[in-house]
Amino acid sequence: MDSSQDKVVTRGLRDVAAAETKISFVDPMGALYYLGYNIDALVGHVCYEEVVYLLLNGKLPTKNELDQLRGQLISEMQLPEAVINSIKSFPVSSHPMEVLRTEISHLSMYDPDGDSTSEQAISRQAIRLVAKVPAIVAAIHRSRSNQLPVAPNPEIGFSENFLYLFRGKPADSEEKEAIDRYMTLHADHGFNASTFAARVTASTNSDMYSAVTCAVGTLKGPLHGGASEKVMYMLDNINTEEEVEAYIQGMLDDQKKIMGFGHRVYRAEDPRTKHLRELAEDLCRRTNTKNLYKLCVRIENVVHEKKKIFPNVDFYAAVTLNALGVPFQFVTPFFASSRVSGWTAHIMEQYKDAVLLRPTSKYIGEYGRPFIPIEKR
Ligand code: CMC
Repeated sequence: MDSSQDKVVTRGLRDVAAAETKISFVDPMGALYYLGYNIDALVGHVCYEEVVYLLLNGKLPTKNELDQLRGQLISEMQLPEAVINSIKSFPVSSHPMEVLRTEISHLSMYDPDGDSTSEQAISRQAIRLVAKVPAIVAAIHRSRSNQLPVAPNPEIGFSENFLYLFRGKPADSEEKEAIDRYMTLHADHGFNASTFAARVTASTNSDMYSAVTCAVGTLKGPLHGGASEKVMYMLDNINTEEEVEAYIQGMLDDQKKIMGFGHRVYRAEDPRTKHLRELAEDLCRRTNTKNLYKLCVRIENVVHEKKKIFPNVDFYAAVTLNALGVPFQFVTPFFASSRVSGWTAHIMEQYKDAVLLRPTSKYIGEYGRPFIPIEKR
């Protein structure tokens, strides 16, 4: 018998490199690169569609390529009637992430490329998913708030269209800039848990919709993208800056994690935080919720003093979306609506790598237990 006891377990797969990738690099010292570009050089200088092009094609687009992709994305925001009807049929008590997970799976049955695995079909599916995931999120919100769906506007950009479909009113220039930056910052992030889940599914040569469905289920967890919604509940529970110290100490005394803080890889501040902090500050000023922003800064300082940990992407992102009028339960679906570009890029890379991702385990159970028939147990 193979001695399973000799196997070394790397708990949580911490620091294990599961594959090679060219898509993004998360530098523990506090930097993030998409295809070699430092995100600091991209944020505010590119629109989200340029980032989508970069992730899916490995290079930044020319003006023509960008126009073409934007046109494709906006026309792909249309959803099959069956998906819209299905969204309307779910109990209002269901969480938007549950509905999103279900509808991505449902969507696969209407893909015109069916189960074709040609490179062109896969790349068309990636564009469809990048466009339709935000459209589903918007449709869930419109349906829940008893508002009619809005048709995409080909005259405006993709992320702006997302906000338009979601809220039903056009974004002004500051909001447009904010949603573009938000989506750019959330597009990809190395081998995070949801991307890894997507790659494991793709490694079995399963279809792209299955892989993205798995990714959404993984993102939903509060240790990953689900943390952003929890951040909003925490902020709702703290009324003033004076309450912060006792609230945080209480959480730590109860061995509870502070949502939106800490990271598996970064040992310095998450490089996305400075951009999101700035966005949150500007938007809170506009919406007269400056106190909320100040509360966040106080929480950041207190948590750092006590635990020496930094806010991660979810902390200020939640406040940014809140100031854009996104309800708490839709904060994580917005994350999914941006990260789908990274997921699909990784799924395509995984198909090319063509290796089954299948680790082993260290068995610590018993051997040779005497079998007792059911009538004698
Ligand atoms: N609140 C309180 N203590 C924390 C937190 C936190 N949020 N994060 C880490 N710590 C502590 C942890 O308990 C440990 O303390 P000690 O050494 O005393 O045992 C120390 O900091 C080091 O933790 P770690 O080993 O670096 O943490 P990890 O890699 O096992 O977990 C994490 C990473 C993200 C799951 C964790 O930080 C966490 O649960 N954070 C809260 C949930 C959250 O915000 N998730 C979003 C993650 S990043 C963006 C995303 O993927 O969506």
